[in-house]
Order: sequence, then structure tokens, then C-alpha cells
Amino acid sequence: MGGCKEEIPLSVPCLKGNEWNYVKECLDTNWVSYVGPFVKRFEKELAVVTDARHAVAMSSGTAALHVALILAGVKPDEEVVMPALTFVAPANAVRYCGAWPVLIDIQGCDWQMDIDQLSHFLSDSCVRRRGLLFNKITGRRVAALLPVHLLGAMCDVDAVAELATMYELPLIEDAAECLGATYKNRPIGASTPAYNGPLRIVVTSFNGNKVMTTGGGGALLANENSVADRAMHLSTTAKVDDFEFLHDEVGYNYRLTNIAAALGVAQLEQLNDHVEFKRMVAHRYEGIFLGHSHITAHPEARQCRSTFWLYTVLLDIQSKPIVEYLNSKGIMARRVWLPITDVPPFKDKVFSTGCQMANHLHEYALNIPCSVGITPGQIETVAEQLTFAISRH
Ligand SMILES: Cc1ncc(COP(=O)(O)O)c(C=O)c1O
Repeated sequence: MGGCKEEIPLSVPCLKGNEWNYVKECLDTNWVSYVGPFVKRFEKELAVVTDARHAVAMSSGTAALHVALILAGVKPDEEVVMPALTFVAPANAVRYCGAWPVLIDIQGCDWQMDIDQLSHFLSDSCVRRRGLLFNKITGRRVAALLPVHLLGAMCDVDAVAELATMYELPLIEDAAECLGATYKNRPIGASTPAYNGPLRIVVTSFNGNKVMTTGGGGALLANENSVADRAMHLSTTAKVDDFEFLHDEVGYNYRLTNIAAALGVAQLEQLNDHVEFKRMVAHRYEGIFLGHSHITAHPEARQCRSTFWLYTVLLDIQSKPIVEYLNSKGIMARRVWLPITDVPPFKDKVFSTGCQMANHLHEYALNIPCSVGITPGQIETVAEQLTFAISRH
């Protein structure tokens, strides 16, 4: 292996389809910015793949989350309920609205948001006043539920949808990491029969490390025309006239470019293949780690077909020295995220229900290389080095 770093990357793009052709078409036709045929085409095809009625393409998943929270009516000093363990983007988007995240732990069985804790938080820590829900401890209004589907799989969507319905809360699903996954055979944008509340929006991301990429980009998926129209309006500077500079509210410059959308169209053509490849990688790792007493392989919940976007293993020893060892051998591995409770802008400022499992995963779990295109030999090298590193401790 030698000492050269990052010889086996963690999760990098696979651009093996029509990317060059479609991007060249943008350059040849001069449609390089926010307007152009690929943006509309990408939105249409994404809606089909995700089973959503509408897709609104934006410059990032974070931007789409921000717009979704605005549409949900989240205001300063209110609260949005989300898992404690996630990439920081959804917590940041909540702060863009001036609101605060309420952090729920992760459940051990599938490494997704803990549904029992969510239910207890809503029933025991909240009170309804004048038709609104308030956190009894902070006194803040609870404005929305923001389940984040983690690591390529999906949380128990129906259970969260039932709670959101019961408490009449908007439901914003962060599906940034799980494009291509299904829950009870439903793709991420499909309507959820269990939800009968005020508003449901799903957000996804096409960041470079995702199962498919537009370089950078995201989308807001919605099933109601009015929601999609408002999302489009807000993400295109709230412009009401193409010829006059008339904007009817404060809008955002969040639109995806035609070049990025061209990449997206090409990548969407390969999404199924990418997902199947990721699943094959996961099953290979699972087979190798089966019976290894120190390693728990990435779980898959019964009702979910995961993309295994970021293959993760849980150890019975701390993961930090193992990650350091792997990185020194050129194998890009990462500890699972620092829980949001400990991320400086949120630490000591957010309400949390106790994050034992989130902390445990951060301390003991690690992400290992799983790019689309990783070779069987590389998978074996990763597994060999991982087991060797564990045996030294
Ligand atoms: C859970 C989650 N939400 C949101 C995002 C943000 O997406 P983007 O990087 O496109 O802004 C990401 C990752 O990129 C993510 O992992």
C-alpha cells in the first residue's frame, strides 16, 4: 500500500455516462446559467425517478432545506425537531430561519432517528396551547419535524408521518443522503398515506460525495402545485416579471445552473446502476465482516431498501485510532459525525433528549470507502487493513 494518502477514496463521483456530451451541449449552445433546457429536463426526470409530482432544482441541498423551512413557516426563536446525529446542514438551515433544532437520539436497530424518543418528546415535553405546540422546557413553539434519513437508508417514515399528523406539524424530510432508496417500496418523493398534516416536503442533494452528483446541487420535492410554485419563486429571487426588476418579497438566488443540470441528467440515467453497485459493495463488506466479533456491519431496516450511500461499521473499540491508521495507509475513512449537541454553534444552546446512541456511533463507528467503481481488490484491502488495525488494539 505504501504511505501515499487517500489512495482509496471514501465516496467519489462516477462520471461514466453522457456527462461530457450534455455539458458540451450547454457550452455549444451558450446555455450555461440558471436558464436552459437541462434544468427543466432534470426536474422532470428527477420527479419521475423519485415519484414526486414536482421537483425544483436548486444550487444545494442546504438551499433546498432553507426554502422548505421557510415554506413550513418556521420563524425566529421557534424549534424544529431533528436527529442529533447528521451532517450539519439541516441544523444550519434551521438557524438560517432564526430557529433552533431540538435534537433526538438515534436508535440502535437501524441507526436512524429514534422514533420512541421523538414520540416521548412530543407527548411528555410539549404542550398544546391555542392549537400550537410548545416545548414546555424552553417555552418555544415547535414549528416542524425534520427527520433526516441517514447514511443512505430511510427512517421509519410512516411512524414520523403519523406523529406529524397527530401534532399537526409540517414534515420536512431531509433525503440528501438517500436518493435511490425506497421505504415500503416507495421512492423518496412518493406521497405518504400516513401523513395528513399541513405540509410535507422532501429535500435531496447532489453534492459530489452522493450516489449521483451535479457537482453541487439539490432539489425540493413536493406533491402540491402551490408548494412547488412557491419554492420556485423563492429560489429565483422572487421575481414576478421577466422584463422589469420587480420582486414581491425577499427571495434567494438558489437556482441550479444548466451546466449542473446537464450533469444531473446524465447521472440520473445511471442512478439505478449506482445504487445497485453501492448495494453490492455493502453486501461484500457484510460477507467479509460476518462473524467478525469486533465489527457490526451497516444494518438495513426491513421496510427500507438502502443505497448504503456511506458504508459504515460499528466497532467494539474506539474508532479514532483505527481511522487514523487507515488514513495513514491511504485508505480514506472517517469517524461518524460529531453529534450536533457538540458542534460549537449549537453546543449548550440546543435542547436535546439525550444522545447516548449518537455519541456511541460517533465514538465507535466509522465510514469506509464505498465509491461507485471501487474494485473487489480495494474492498479486500480496506477490510484487511481494518481487521489488522483492530487486532493491534
Ligand atoms: C443529511 C444531509 N443534509 C443536507 C446536506 C446538504 O446538502 P448540500 O451539500 O447539497 O448542501 C447533506 C450533505 O451534503 C446531508 O448529508
